[in-house]
Amino acid sequence: MTGIDTPLTRLLGIRRPILLAGMAGGPTTPELVAAVSRAGGLGVFGLAGMSTDATRDAVSRAVALADGAPVGVNVLISPAVPRPGADPEAVDRVLAPMREEMHLPHPPPKGPTPPTPLELVQAGLEAGARVVATGLGDPAVVAGAARDAGAPLVAMVSTVDDARRVVDAGADVVVAQGAEAGGHRSNFEVPDDREVPLVGTMALVRQVVRAVNVPVVATGGIMDGAGLAAALALGASGAQLGTALLVASEAGVPAGWRDRLRTARDDETIITRALSGRPARGLPNALTEALDVPGAMGWPQQNAVAADIRRAAAAAGDADHMSLWAGQAAALSGPDRPAALIIDEVMDQALVEMRRLGGLAQADGPA
Ligand SMILES: Cc1cc2nc3c(=O)[nH]c(=O)nc-3n(C[C@H](O)[C@H](O)[C@H](O)COP(=O)(O)O)c2cc1C
Repeated sequence: MTGIDTPLTRLLGIRRPILLAGMAGGPTTPELVAAVSRAGGLGVFGLAGMSTDATRDAVSRAVALADGAPVGVNVLISPAVPRPGADPEAVDRVLAPMREEMHLPHPPPKGPTPPTPLELVQAGLEAGARVVATGLGDPAVVAGAARDAGAPLVAMVSTVDDARRVVDAGADVVVAQGAEAGGHRSNFEVPDDREVPLVGTMALVRQVVRAVNVPVVATGGIMDGAGLAAALALGASGAQLGTALLVASEAGVPAGWRDRLRTARDDETIITRALSGRPARGLPNALTEALDVPGAMGWPQQNAVAADIRRAAAAAGDADHMSLWAGQAAALSGPDRPAALIIDEVMDQALVEMRRLGGLAQADGPA
């Protein structure tokens, strides 16, 4: 297997500097996580929204399928984000007809209290995960559990200040998430009275590399080997792929979502708080439009309020009512194919690009 040796690969014990973004809500199945780890990258399970029992089952399965390669778990750590003017009844008025149309009970049956990020991490580590990853907020609450298990702590940030903060909290790796990224913004502060700051991947990665003394991983808009080579050129030790692996055969992503990715325009994704109460990048659909109402709530209430609708839509392949998280380079995702093939393509192309760039150098300038 061709490899690239970086401080990241040495720290995590992997051959290739490619991380699968833990993608909660379905995409990161045990099969996808294991396939990425077997292909020499690090497969990471997105645990947000799962129970501790489901976590143990899914992570054990991924570990068993990974043939001894390490597997990671990811949790979302966000303080509550209150929203002035929140009006649950206004949101309810939008959801009632939608549930009727989808033949879902209204109001939905109350579920159990969700586990904390620490409980999810502990369940994942008990099931054999060897790396702990976080997004959205300060990873201090899980740092002790990771340290006690000897698991490297990988924390995602979207600003230089937060990069310094996660290293102080014990992060061994910083993932620098640029504005291009699909899914939730990993800005720790998301003030209600202004737009969330959006620093692009190129600007952010270079500044984070200079600000911290741990390996940095670039994420946001990286879809292929040229993107990986660019990340390495900026001083990152690897790349984290989210959207690029949503089209992997093993991903838990319905066909309608995959099709929207492939046909997306570069300017088509939006950053919306409508689905969760926190800013996140995805493709617009009937659900984002309907939930973008005065009275929409903050995190985590808004995230929970239509969870039953998103789940039912995903199960039915209804792309109008599920979350369609996607990065700005979604159109580069290509056809469905096994994750191992995607990882091989990324690696092969990165090596070609690195050699091509090396060949451009002319010691004495043009003749
Ligand atoms: C469908 C989807 C779900 C995501 N879920 C999570 C998650 O559960 N935890 C997390 O830390 N990041 C999550 N992210 C964000 C990724 O970690 C990463 O920042 C992003 O995918 C990078 O940009 P890209 O999609 O252009 O590769 C998600 C992204 C997508 C596309």
